[in-house]
Amino acid sequence: MIKKKSKLFIITIILSTLICCLFTPNSLADTLNSQQGKQIFQINCAGCHPNGNNIIRRGKNLKLKALQKNGYDSLDKITWLVTNGKNNMSAFKDRLTEKEINQVANYVLEQAQNNWK
Ligand code: HEC
Repeated sequence: MIKKKSKLFIITIILSTLICCLFTPNSLADTLNSQQGKQIFQINCAGCHPNGNNIIRRGKNLKLKALQKNGYDSLDKITWLVTNGKNNMSAFKDRLTEKEINQVANYVLEQAQNNWK
């Protein structure tokens, strides 16, 4: 017969293991992806889009309002644009991997939702 105290101890261990397994890898991966997205942005995008602006076409910036107005407020659309380019913005499919494009697109959306703070 297991004592009440040790039962509780075992349940606590099982629960905390479950919680760790369920949540930590995901949020850790999110944090890492976001960090990498930021780095990719600084290297490849910030030249034309400092702080989410657009130095070539001011109206086509990366603030939430402009993204919504121009139809780039989804992950799919931003991924497409970064992959294929448009007008004065070059395509990145030869320079970035699919994963990197996904990371930077996520970062742009995240920052737009945070108002580039
Ligand atoms: C050479 C300058 C340049 C670079 C580098 C550049 N962009 Fe752009 N970007 C532009 C221009 C110009 C447009 C407007 C394109 C159009 O619609 O005519 C644009 C548009 C966009 C838009 C749509 C904005 C809107 O409101 O319509 C997104 C999103 C975007 N860029 C993301 C990125 C990301 C992410 C990167 C880096 C991987 C990047 N850009 C690199 C010049 C650049």
